Amino acid sequence: MNETILVDKNLSLEEKYENLIPQIKNLLSPSDNLITNLANCTATLKQTFEKISWVGFYIFDGKELYLGPFQGKVACNIIQIGKGVCGAAAQQRKTIIVPDVNKFPGHIFCDADSKSEIVVPIFHKDNSLFGVLDLDSYEYDSFNETDKKYLEEICKFLTSEIINS
Ligand code: SME
Repeated sequence: MNETILVDKNLSLEEKYENLIPQIKNLLSPSDNLITNLANCTATLKQTFEKISWVGFYIFDGKELYLGPFQGKVACNIIQIGKGVCGAAAQQRKTIIVPDVNKFPGHIFCDADSKSEIVVPIFHKDNSLFGVLDLDSYEYDSFNETDKKYLEEICKFLTSEIINS
């Protein structure tokens, strides 16, 4: 297994994802533990995109979202479905881009310096909720439709190849 992720910092956002995604698909493996795969997935994103202050998974246990593998400062352990950006994305089953977290009613501040955020829901193969992938930034307006497109592709890969059921 190749454990090095190489993405040229001078590439455009789209090119960075186009370079990164094959490397994620190579690094993550259904034969590895799920936590191992999710942990390395957060690391690939954090080390590729300087704009990310925090990236991690919240995983649905049938009732609420609990903190999974992440990179960044300590974060809230539990998020209720419908609460915050993570809970809203889980409830609405769609990606939410928040250019200014101060303008998102009910946003949960795990880090007071966080300014913008994107949350992508993740599903099991049977379409039930697995959890969410949450990315935060210390800059306003850090995430756009390009991030949405490629992060959704990564989450679909997790559904089809990495999450076991
Ligand atoms: N801001 C998120 C909570 C998680 S932290 O940002 C890591 C939210 O509103 O759901």
